[in-house]
Amino acid sequence: MVRPLFATCSALLFSLGALADNWPFMTLQTAPFAPPDVSIEKSGVTDPGYIFIGPRGNQPAGTAALIYDEDGNLVYQGPTEVTANFKVQKLFNEDVITFWAGDMMKLGFGYGTVHILDDTYREIYTVTLKGDFTSPDGASRDSYIDLHESRVTSRNTLLVTAYNVIQHDLSVIGGRPTDHMLDSKFYEIDIATNEVVFEWSTFDHIADIPLEESKQGWGDDVGSQETPYDAYHINSVELFDEGYIISLRHYWSGYYIHNNGTVMWRLGGEPGKGDFELDRNGEFSWQHDIRIYNETQEGFAMTLFNNANTPSSSVAATTGLSFDVDLVNFKAKTTRVLNDTDDVIHSVSQGSYQLLSEHTGHVAMGYGSIAEVKEFDADNNEVLTVKFGEPNAVASYRGYKCQWKATPFWKPAVVVQRTGPSTVVVHMSWNGATEYDNWAVYSSAYSDGSDPKFQALVNRAGFESTIELNGLSGGFLQVIARKGDIPLGSSDVASLEIAPADEPAPTSSAAA
Ligand SMILES: *[C@@H]1O[C@H](CO)[C@@H](O)[C@H](O)[C@H]1NC(C)=O
Ligand SMILES: *[C@@H]1O[C@H](CO)[C@@H](O)[C@H](O)[C@H]1NC(C)=O
Ligand SMILES: *[C@@H]1O[C@H](CO)[C@@H](O)[C@H](O)[C@H]1NC(C)=O
Repeated sequence: MVRPLFATCSALLFSLGALADNWPFMTLQTAPFAPPDVSIEKSGVTDPGYIFIGPRGNQPAGTAALIYDEDGNLVYQGPTEVTANFKVQKLFNEDVITFWAGDMMKLGFGYGTVHILDDTYREIYTVTLKGDFTSPDGASRDSYIDLHESRVTSRNTLLVTAYNVIQHDLSVIGGRPTDHMLDSKFYEIDIATNEVVFEWSTFDHIADIPLEESKQGWGDDVGSQETPYDAYHINSVELFDEGYIISLRHYWSGYYIHNNGTVMWRLGGEPGKGDFELDRNGEFSWQHDIRIYNETQEGFAMTLFNNANTPSSSVAATTGLSFDVDLVNFKAKTTRVLNDTDDVIHSVSQGSYQLLSEHTGHVAMGYGSIAEVKEFDADNNEVLTVKFGEPNAVASYRGYKCQWKATPFWKPAVVVQRTGPSTVVVHMSWNGATEYDNWAVYSSAYSDGSDPKFQALVNRAGFESTIELNGLSGGFLQVIARKGDIPLGSSDVASLEIAPADEPAPTSSAAA
């Protein structure tokens, strides 16, 4: 059988091409960061929350977990690393930050670790996966968790995906008996103990999920250990009934996997594929992020990010879809189609759909290979668009809007620059802090900051606040981040015995 040559495989999807990236980046005095200067368009009332992204790709800087507010101010930048699924989740009833960080393979998956931080940004759990895996480059890894899923469950476990290279006869799809392919696996891991409590392999169920039904194109350069055929491409896992719902992007389908391993049913995005009857509006392809709500014995609600595009061409608008799924008659009725008609997006890879609240009905979508996050209201109108890079040059695997309160365990940062014999400019910031709204600036004659003299009150101005002070020829300075008049954190004491700003090496306390 000759496979249709769907232009490319996933290899191109994640290796964002050598496109010019002229996106502006921020310059900060108090932190060695250069995050993207995001653009914000608001066209309606939005839900509360911060924008959580993990940009990566072809940009010179800003590859890190990033939080912005809705006015485009940076709130937090994590270490420089490739991240995915950066968001707030509930663990043991507390809000925590979770994200994947690791190595991304050009084939469109990764090997890494899931980090869980508390509301001071202390890492409280580090989830890893060991095992007998084969990678395209043959190298072994410290942890084999793939980037596609980092879902904390109501039973305080973590659902993750993993990709494994296996050798298999691919003659049925036009390949060779000695070819290699990627198995798509998922794991449920107990977060407190890092023990695997469930694992499942798609390849073990090849009779129920036959290779002939994969939408992934075949190519001459596919099939070696270095370039295995990505038959399934698992990209989300969700608890459901007595098991799990998984998304296989390359089958345009979600599957219910029972916790005894059995494939119970398939909900396909293409007419005639799978066990459900779908209305026309609900057709989907190359999808991401299948989520389940309102589950009963008779049915459930389901949402997903419908990429609807192949890597090579713009087929149809990328949409967010919501369904009412009837488990008695095996029908899926489309309840929402989210499409920004003023900014129609064709996202060929990655992406997310996040219901912000059942109460407001707002939804945030991250557009994956198109560097945008949008919020839609209950009437399916877009109310917020955040852009953070040039399309197809920078991606964030998923993009979220989350409410978050944090007071970092590190100190606020202060940088003092001398601008004249008795004038200084003071820059202050507190990476990740959400709660302070003003700074109190004190001078002191002593290096321990004792006997402080109040100098100024400075309202918080985004990530970094700045003030010029007169009449300070020497001595020391300390800044205090406050909420109203309640102090939340104090900087180190900075010396005012410094060279003018146009000479090198201003005194500063390090930013965390
Ligand atoms: C798993 O459980 C389901 C639901 O009870 C059942 O239909 C199926 O046959 C079981 N599979 C195995 C392998 O036991
Ligand atoms: C869940 O059910 C509630 C109550 O009927 C409804 O308001 C809500 O929209 C449903 N959620 C989804 C995602 O469909
Ligand atoms: C999305 O909006 C565009 C522009 O109005 C329209 O052409 C397209 O048909 C819409 N697609 C869907 C699925 O709503």
